Amino acid sequence: MSGLEIVRDPQVLRARRARWRAAGESCALVPTMGNLHAGHLALVRAARERAGRVIATLFVNPGQFGEGEDFDAYPRTFEEDRRKLSDCGVDLLFCPTVADVYPDGWDGHTRVTVPGLSGILCGATRPIHFTGVATVVTKLLNLAAPEVALFGEKDYQQLTVIRRLVRDLWIPVEIVGVPTVRESDGLAMSSRNRYLTADERARAPALYRVLCAQAAALAGGVRDFAAVSAAGMADLAAAGLEPEYFEVRRADDLELPQPADSHVVILAAARLGRARLIDNVRTRLNPDPGSPIIGGP
Ligand code: PAJ
Repeated sequence: MSGLEIVRDPQVLRARRARWRAAGESCALVPTMGNLHAGHLALVRAARERAGRVIATLFVNPGQFGEGEDFDAYPRTFEEDRRKLSDCGVDLLFCPTVADVYPDGWDGHTRVTVPGLSGILCGATRPIHFTGVATVVTKLLNLAAPEVALFGEKDYQQLTVIRRLVRDLWIPVEIVGVPTVRESDGLAMSSRNRYLTADERARAPALYRVLCAQAAALAGGVRDFAAVSAAGMADLAAAGLEPEYFEVRRADDLELPQPADSHVVILAAARLGRARLIDNVRTRLNPDPGSPIIGGP
């Protein structure tokens, strides 16, 4: 039996939400761009555990793709996505059109920008990206008004941007980060992995391997972050990837780590053929002896 309702009209979503609220039911939101894999479904399962009702959204957001990026090529697999969400017990799938979301087009639309955070790391090469993400996520949070919204740690910078905008704009929602779901060889699941040829797919796990190796070095006492970054870049290049960045940052705000900081994250992006892969691994700088790398194998 499928209890999944498909909604395209924002006003219908609002009405459902109001009805649930009147019945005392809590609501969790899982925003996606579709082409769902086990990573997305982990978010849905976590959502199920936290609220009576789960809303998933499916919208390939033109606002977060730069010129020459893969907006047109982005995989669109609505029927499969609908079936997976139904099987996972999602109550409502919101899949608006671009005209519903941006009635005057993206260029004429109000924007949400988180300064600083949006211009570093991935934002350095994708200048509009996090404004597009922040704007659409703000709209979805305002419309669905969930008690909780779930996002993957795989997109660590995105999660940090969303936490910041929710704090700054006083949006009454709890943001929950869900650990990265990986293939058995360590590659983080991503809709963009399908751009990889067989040969590239075989090389792709190097990204996570190199991140884990450098995280282990930090956990083991190395404190020269520039050397960690240089070693990571060199190891990725040696593995046949084209690294864009490999950086050690403070885990909570992605600033450069200071001597007193204990929680850090290494974030990396690398090109491999048509794909641009991102991943990250967290670790402690002053761990108890034998404490594991957070998110490590
Ligand atoms: P999308 O890439 O479809 O991802 C939707 C959500 O799934 C994000 O929170 C992302 O971090 C999470 N996710 C993706 N791969 C994952 C994995 N391997 N393990 C755990 N979680 C994973 O991210 C977006 O869409 C968009 O930017 C969006 C937030 C929907 C705004 O348009």
